[in-house]
Amino acid sequence: MNLNQNIKISLISAIDRESHTIGKEGGGLPWKIPEDFLHFKKTTMGHPIIMGRTTWEEFGGKPLPGRHHIVITRQTDYKIADEISDRVSVVTSIEKSLELASEIENNSHKENKFSGENKEKEIFVIGGAQIYELALPYANRLYLTLVDAHLDGPVKFPDYETASFTKIIFSRKSRDENFRYEFLVLEK
Ligand SMILES: NC(=O)c1ccc[n+]([C@@H]2O[C@H](COP(=O)([O-])OP(=O)(O)OC[C@H]3O[C@@H](n4cnc5c(N)ncnc54)[C@H](OP(=O)(O)O)[C@@H]3O)[C@@H](O)[C@H]2O)c1
Repeated sequence: MNLNQNIKISLISAIDRESHTIGKEGGGLPWKIPEDFLHFKKTTMGHPIIMGRTTWEEFGGKPLPGRHHIVITRQTDYKIADEISDRVSVVTSIEKSLELASEIENNSHKENKFSGENKEKEIFVIGGAQIYELALPYANRLYLTLVDAHLDGPVKFPDYETASFTKIIFSRKSRDENFRYEFLVLEK
């Protein structure tokens, strides 16, 4: 795979602190955390985002503003509506998604089209579980929201602790007194 070494590959996810659950049985997020939505928006804005076909379909066909979407599927005939095809690409492997995302990120910096706050060259894998698993070996950085929800479900974030993400580069506890969570950024 031909990847530019100057581009960070990051995974971003909200996970149950104990069980690492990320999704409900049958789909959807297990919680609604407005501060985490804002954190996700601020962190990923202006950068390409990579996701599995299941996660993409949870967006209901509406791409998020300001970010190019790359959807991974094994279906070679998977269709995206014409009116959003300039903002959403479809690929059939994690490697192709990372190559395309790198190309898009490099071009947006070259053409000075970059619109986000985070000026670093960075591409984001936004889930779900199957795609995090495929992307983890390529990742340089993890943005994790550890949620004290005490729930357990079948859809889980992969085991990142043994993948040696031991360096904490950012940590902040939630401001919400009733619902505890913590923003963490980890590197190898
Ligand atoms: N908490 C969080 O931060 C967070 C973030 C994102 C998602 N989620 C949750 O996670 C759940 C979805 O996760 P998921 O694991 O079920 O689905 P997913 O990872 O979003 O997508 C799975 C799909 O990706 C494609 N795929 C998987 N492996 C592939 C490979 N090797 N090559 C090509 N394509 C491949 C397949 O699409 P085809 O079947 O079309 O071939 C597969 O069905 C939802 O509940 C969602 O709400 C949580």
